[in-house]
Amino acid sequence: MNLNPASHININVNSTTKSSDPAPQALSPFAIDIRKGLWARPKKIPSKYFYDEIGSKLFQDIMNLDEYYLTDCEYEVLDLNKSQILDHCQRTGGFDIIELGAGDGYKTKVLLRHFLEAGADFTYRPVDISTEAIDGLVNTLQQEIPDLQVNAIVDDYFQALNNLKAEDAKRTRVVLFLGSNVGNLKFVEVVNFLEKLKAGMKQGDLLLTGFDLRKDPDMILAAYNDSKGVTAQFNLNLLNRMNRELGAEFDLSTFKHYPFYDAINGEARSCLVSKVKQSVYIAALDDTVDFEVAEIIKTEVSRKYFPGQVEALASRTGFSTVAHLFDAKKHFLDALWSA
Ligand code: AVI
Repeated sequence: MNLNPASHININVNSTTKSSDPAPQALSPFAIDIRKGLWARPKKIPSKYFYDEIGSKLFQDIMNLDEYYLTDCEYEVLDLNKSQILDHCQRTGGFDIIELGAGDGYKTKVLLRHFLEAGADFTYRPVDISTEAIDGLVNTLQQEIPDLQVNAIVDDYFQALNNLKAEDAKRTRVVLFLGSNVGNLKFVEVVNFLEKLKAGMKQGDLLLTGFDLRKDPDMILAAYNDSKGVTAQFNLNLLNRMNRELGAEFDLSTFKHYPFYDAINGEARSCLVSKVKQSVYIAALDDTVDFEVAEIIKTEVSRKYFPGQVEALASRTGFSTVAHLFDAKKHFLDALWSA
């Protein structure tokens, strides 16, 4: 899952090459980002690189942890508010649900089952760039909810929305972007992402997006520092990924997962900390990166919101708020916006 807007980093690796030299091998986007991030101060790695095959499996495990309250809370939001959501979706008749990055559909199924039971006129269109992810989801849905009309799309989110714009203009499009993925984006990236989504929607279409809310700081920190150490493995997998894909020589035992929560700005941050002074060779870059004792690599920000900030984000990006939907404890918010 790559939520970050494509980063067009233009590094001219050939600039000193003479025309008679053999063409040097182009660096992968991952290698380019690592060269940029590990030679910066402070060091950083974009969080989109968590999600290789191993990282995606670890994230599934995280979502099943007791401490990672977000999944259960959002499930409850959808369960408690499913009738209200349906009323908004079908206020002008038939509608199509377009889900961006549906994963295993665990939370969405609450809505889909309810909509079917209520006899709603709707189709379900999950969008993902990965054929494998879409095939897995469609198979599960066919078995679990055989009456559901599924019409999956393998494409980039924005491309998929733009293509759909040309289809039946009378039906309302209900775009789902569940989870709290927007929390992993910087403010400018969130604004850019939402504006691009809006450009692919027509007037009156709906967007349902998840936001993790501010709450007891200890509860938030525990979600990113679980007792089984799964989040630590998820974070350290970035080093493993560099070893596997870039021929790096990181010794994982010399780094530790270090999460912290800043209750002033609502940012849960994850870092990797080098326990020792060391130099690590990265073959793909043919270069060595140096670490001081206790030097960190910033790996993730998960921003927590106040409902007022979510409302402000809607106005900033040209949406209007239809409803704020909460779980019983108000730990999580799904915002329903109209384009
Ligand atoms: C994908 N995203 C919403 C998760 C989060 O909570 O920020 C990623 C995650 N990182 C550590 N645990 C979960």
